[in-house]
Amino acid sequence: MTEQLTRSPRTNHRNLNGARPRTTVRYAHLTGWGMEVPSQVLSNTDLEAIVDTNDDWITARTGIKERRIAEQRETTTSLATRAAQKALGVANLLPSDIDLIIVATATPEHIFPSTASLVQDLLGARDAGAFDLSAACSGFVYGVDMASAKIRLGEIDAALVIGAETLSRVVDWSDRGTCILFGDGAGAVVLQGSDAPGGVLSSILRSDGSGWDMLTLPTVSSRDTYLQDGQHEMHRIYMDGKGVYRFATRVIGDSLRTALEKANMTPEDLALVIPHQANQRIMDHAAKALKIPADRVYSNVERYGNTSAASIPIALAEAADKNRLKPGDVLGLVGFGGGLAWGAAVIEWTAVPGKPGYSITWGRRQSEYARAWVRRPVVRFWRRLMLLSPRAIFRRWQRRIHQRRAASNSTQE
Ligand code: COA
Repeated sequence: MTEQLTRSPRTNHRNLNGARPRTTVRYAHLTGWGMEVPSQVLSNTDLEAIVDTNDDWITARTGIKERRIAEQRETTTSLATRAAQKALGVANLLPSDIDLIIVATATPEHIFPSTASLVQDLLGARDAGAFDLSAACSGFVYGVDMASAKIRLGEIDAALVIGAETLSRVVDWSDRGTCILFGDGAGAVVLQGSDAPGGVLSSILRSDGSGWDMLTLPTVSSRDTYLQDGQHEMHRIYMDGKGVYRFATRVIGDSLRTALEKANMTPEDLALVIPHQANQRIMDHAAKALKIPADRVYSNVERYGNTSAASIPIALAEAADKNRLKPGDVLGLVGFGGGLAWGAAVIEWTAVPGKPGYSITWGRRQSEYARAWVRRPVVRFWRRLMLLSPRAIFRRWQRRIHQRRAASNSTQE
């Protein structure tokens, strides 16, 4: 859907630190976007059967009407991969063109390996590095900041930044103060390097860890993991709703203003703001704080609830698909949440709607997905087979003899 950016020629000439020599200024353009949400809808009325709540209360306090809930077979990885495939389609890129995959998530499938590595494998992005980013609801903005910095440095040409969550798996379904807020989904963008000005103009990241316990999912705490002591309540989201509300309304306008100042701009320059979709009242506050009309603040919280790191890229993909952005428009992103952490980015929209229809890249993309699908079981089978090779058996036998000798020496002593 977008005109493909001309990629910088990959030269073999590198500086001592491995980076490509910076002969020209590089810009990180947003060239692809995609979203994936589960089909299962949980409405406010459905929630009335689970906790003591009602549609009027939820709508008035949050603006949320319904949220999507992942089915058993759906995972953070599967949602992230589908969103990434759609973003690659819009950018008209191949998985093998991608140099870096960042998955911002508060609900990774494992502490390690990273969800990003699983996505890399499913996509067949054979030349990409991959890592997860933990900054809760601000994770996507943090990811855009990291990936665009590497592109501007000339170290990479193309990155996938994904926000993906299956929060329904960690929500306390008996706590009406939190379970009404959260939903599942994923959104992804492609950032690509170009010599043409535009793209990510500025970004700022901030944190205040003194508020760590205002919004927390303790499972991944190195101190008290539920895996260690079987305390499953550690696998639940805890939130100080009022405290988080006060924090969010304080930082939402300030952080975007700071990012705009960095780009020598003012709120009047903004064509659209996509804040983290936490709560309609917080988003209304953003319009007031920035003194911009409410219709310049994009909201879909009514349909998806708070999908944490996924909320901004989901909203961005929707806004782009609805042609809410045209080339030259300035877009503001602002994330805030657990950490406490927050961040904002200012992006000049440069994606041009392309010709509809299939391109040659579509076929090549599908063949790379198919290759990745075949490669996975083959490589895994091969690794098992290697354990049965005569060399591996000989090595295991040698090791066992060595261990026996060491054991008998120690008993003789
Ligand atoms: N349905 C009905 N009543 C509810 C309820 C629910 N789902 N949740 C709480 N209540 C009740 C409370 O028990 C309380 O009753 P009481 O006065 O009899 O004790 C009353 O509603 C007010 O509760 P309170 O917690 O003070 O509500 P609130 O106005 O602070 O709204 C939030 C709660 C969570 C909606 C609000 O604090 C908020 O939006 N916070 C920000 C949350 C957020 O965005 N988090 C993610 C950031 S990334």
